Amino acid sequence: MEEWFSLLLVSSVALLALPQLCVGAKSETWDICKQIVLQMGYPCQNFTVTTDDGYLLGLYRIPYGYNEEVKDRSWSRPPVYLQHGLVQGGDTWVLNNPDESLGYILADAGFDVWLGNIRGTRWSYGHVSMSREDKDYWDWSWDELAAYDLPAMLEFVYKITGRKVLYVGHSQGTIMGLAAFTQDKVGEFVAAAALLSPITYLNHINSAFLNVAAHYYIEKMVKTMGVHEFNLRNELGVELVDRVCASPIVDCGNLLAALTGPNCCFNESRIPYYLQYEPHSTSLKNLAHLAQMIRSGTFAKYDYGRLGNLLHYYRFSPPSYDLAQIPATMSLWMSWGGNDALADAVDVAHTISELQCKPELIYVENYGHIDFVLSTRAKTDIYDSMIAFFRDQGEDTHAQI
Ligand SMILES: *[C@@H]1O[C@H](CO)[C@@H](O)[C@H](O)[C@H]1NC(C)=O
Ligand SMILES: *[C@@H]1O[C@H](CO)[C@@H](O)[C@H](O)[C@H]1NC(C)=O
Repeated sequence: MEEWFSLLLVSSVALLALPQLCVGAKSETWDICKQIVLQMGYPCQNFTVTTDDGYLLGLYRIPYGYNEEVKDRSWSRPPVYLQHGLVQGGDTWVLNNPDESLGYILADAGFDVWLGNIRGTRWSYGHVSMSREDKDYWDWSWDELAAYDLPAMLEFVYKITGRKVLYVGHSQGTIMGLAAFTQDKVGEFVAAAALLSPITYLNHINSAFLNVAAHYYIEKMVKTMGVHEFNLRNELGVELVDRVCASPIVDCGNLLAALTGPNCCFNESRIPYYLQYEPHSTSLKNLAHLAQMIRSGTFAKYDYGRLGNLLHYYRFSPPSYDLAQIPATMSLWMSWGGNDALADAVDVAHTISELQCKPELIYVENYGHIDFVLSTRAKTDIYDSMIAFFRDQGEDTHAQI
């Protein structure tokens, strides 16, 4: 995995020479079904979901498994919604072989699989009135992902299938899920949740790169640039990496490990393939929100400063998301890793201590942050346990509308 980032880091020039996949890309040419899932021989359907604030999200479905009869068993299949993490997209779940990737494994195990894509990813379709080139298109952080994107996609799945949905999130996908659960935004659509690298508190991360970025650089970039797209492939991404790597305490010789922790089970020969799709864009404001979590140790809304907070929240400080508000009836399953530089043991324990319902926990000692989605051994290490948890949920997922 290190090579992935070394590749990005060889030099700024090389980085900018990478294909500019996102900029100006025509959305109709980006289709998870056509480019990935159908090519693997699985059935696939695409949908467009419009959020209340006008974003057009790409939602993709693998309704049943490989080689299954089309005389649709999908009505009896529990729907599972997969929410990817930061600078990733719904492709994350289907990039490895079918016996390694969660999307295919769940379809083959009898689930109706839905791949969500947040605003800004290449698999989503833009906005009803703005284009990706408009600054305001990038005026959001994970607050909006939890308040708009997640409820829109989960409600859509709930309405199409008539069933409560099983939720899977990785990393930022766990932030979005937990934040939405505390606000009761999606409770009526969700039966249970499995969280990979669960994150709410971030003040114990041992990633030197992210600590330096969060404490010294991201805020400055927001002040200079304002609302802006962020992509590791564009100039802003290169600038951030260059600046942070100039710090004597950050070892960029091993940047991915510095960012995510060492990943045990990553197949490096697949890097060129992964790079065809990843990384995706996010907003600079979203990075600033994550940096705020690292600096402040809170799980709270975006901090606009004292005056801005008054305008947005009628108070000087941003309100916190209260994990105790997640209903005790929401069953949770979590998996975290001993080498994960982002979901640190202290922070994970902090999260769990505030929940009313105690989650089932799977600890994998040698897993880094990316292993949870791209490990070649993830099926036996974690996904089999997740599937057993989902099967235990039984009745809730069968609730008809
Ligand atoms: C699905 O993809 C096809 C082909 O790319 C496209 O024409 C169609 O509009 C898409 N449907 C939705 C609902 O996005
Ligand atoms: C790594 O991926 C390549 C390409 O998909 C494959 O040929 C190889 O067998 C994989 N190696 C392992 C250890 O999974």
